[in-house]
Amino acid sequence: MATAQTGDPRLTEIVEALLTSLRGIIRKHRISHEEYRRAVGFFVETAAKGEIPLLFDVFLEATVDQVDAQGRSGTETSVEGPFYLPNAPLLKSPCVLPQRPKEPGDILLLSGCVRAVDGEPLGGAMLDIWQSDAQGAYSHFNIPESEAPWNLRARVIADERGEFEVQTRVPAPYQVPSDGPTGALLRAIGRHPWRPAHLHLRITHDLCETLTTQLFFTGDPWIDSDVVGAVKESLITTLDKHEDPADFKQRGFDRPYYTVRYEFALPRLLRKAA
Ligand SMILES: [Fe+2]
Repeated sequence: MATAQTGDPRLTEIVEALLTSLRGIIRKHRISHEEYRRAVGFFVETAAKGEIPLLFDVFLEATVDQVDAQGRSGTETSVEGPFYLPNAPLLKSPCVLPQRPKEPGDILLLSGCVRAVDGEPLGGAMLDIWQSDAQGAYSHFNIPESEAPWNLRARVIADERGEFEVQTRVPAPYQVPSDGPTGALLRAIGRHPWRPAHLHLRITHDLCETLTTQLFFTGDPWIDSDVVGAVKESLITTLDKHEDPADFKQRGFDRPYYTVRYEFALPRLLRKAA
């Protein structure tokens, strides 16, 4: 006598819910066999071009982040995205992010403090920072490795008061790769492929939960229509421009610079009951 197969209960529930939703869409929109074959072909092509992670990150990762963040306190999270690299150079604040000898773009001083949600400064907190350059390019991915393997990437250790200051460049908006099937789909549904300029941060400390987030800037042309939907109001900062020659010369700069300051708050680690 055959016995009933038992599967993973959560996976079973989710797959059944997914299939019910998809079948409902097929019925509601009267999907034809030709359209069904085109959809299958789209996923085959997306996989062949290595764009499955891109497709999912563009359309779904921000929703996963929102679900993950429910009930979390402190600074809001945002998606990690596809351009993070582990083991970036370890630097002590204040510091300058690794960059090319003539790194293009405006000088940015990013400073702030890392605290626990109850206000205690988190001395020695580590800020893993990564960003695009002033042309929207990321090292390792679209800046040649030989030119600058860790361009505008570092793990920065905050001082004993949780304070940090990092000299970098103002990042630029960029388009997600749009020459493959993901880009073709975006065009076909009338959506642009742009992300507003942003800084990525992953902040860790022994006493707290890790914070993965992004900082954005007021006035960015794509701030209200980020293709990946990762912008949150509380993460939008203002770039302050400093143009006084006496000021920028005193800092050792040959031109005006920008500053951004942000106070980060990390949730305390939940202690397991004994
Ligand atoms: Fe990014």
